[in-house]
Amino acid sequence: MQGPVPLPSHEPGGSPGTGPQDVAMRARARSFGSVAAGYAARRPTYPVDAVEFLLGRGGVLDVLDVGAGTGLLTEVVAGLGHRVRAVDPSPEMLAELTARLPGVATAVGTAEQLPVGGASADAVVAGQAAHWFDPAPAARELRRVLRPGGRVGLVWNTRDERVPWVAALGERIADEARGHEADRAVVESLAAELAAAVEVVESAVVQRVGPEDVVAGIATRSYVAVMDDARRAEFLGGIRELLARHRDTRGRSELELPYRTHAYRLTLR
Ligand SMILES: C[S@@+](CC[C@H](N)C(=O)[O-])C[C@H]1O[C@@H](n2cnc3c(N)ncnc32)[C@H](O)[C@@H]1O
Repeated sequence: MQGPVPLPSHEPGGSPGTGPQDVAMRARARSFGSVAAGYAARRPTYPVDAVEFLLGRGGVLDVLDVGAGTGLLTEVVAGLGHRVRAVDPSPEMLAELTARLPGVATAVGTAEQLPVGGASADAVVAGQAAHWFDPAPAARELRRVLRPGGRVGLVWNTRDERVPWVAALGERIADEARGHEADRAVVESLAAELAAAVEVVESAVVQRVGPEDVVAGIATRSYVAVMDDARRAEFLGGIRELLARHRDTRGRSELELPYRTHAYRLTLR
């Protein structure tokens, strides 16, 4: 893991705002229930060092995982010994979380309306989720639920396109992948609303998967989940074909799909 560095310049944002793409963005934000089954097996987990950076190593914290989905980040936080609660708007995603992590308390809710008491968390984390938050109301809620000195940890995994076959995959899905996940603009707007200082570290994680898992993982992306059946079949067929033909992936039953992880720690001033 690289050491903490100041927040770098950002890419275009993708959070739902007040523009003309609002309706489509909201449909995408609500699409996760339809891909809840198998989601956890098809998405990468988060590197422990990145999560430790977000939470520090100073003892057991009360952590709220917002946009927790099926609990990929929740699991890492709980594994580090913290007390963690999970919030997500999708009951289907939370049902998967409970099946995987029966000891974790869950509640249906959003970042803009958190179903927890004031000053009840030392830290709030969000994995691959903060780009769905509406920054101003979410920041108000984060301030309400955090105790003094609290922190917000935002983390995204992004496919590592420095690897040639992963770059080819990225080109194939570039047009559809608007509203990119690793969204530093989201961090900046949330940090501005919170008046928080931001530090970031980069880490990495590798998913060992078969070609069909790569296809299935892309099928869990919100922009794919909202396609009609024919479009989705055509789109995923193109991914399958690329993996069957690319010199680095053809004929292989197991692939190493690398991700870069960016973990942003927002400390309330
Ligand atoms: C890409 S998934 C990430 C799930 C999980 N954190 C993980 O790392 O696997 C994004 C999650 O954000 C949730 N979400 C969408 N809009 C949200 C909002 N406004 N507030 C909180 N969560 C939201 C979705 O239901 C979905 O479960």
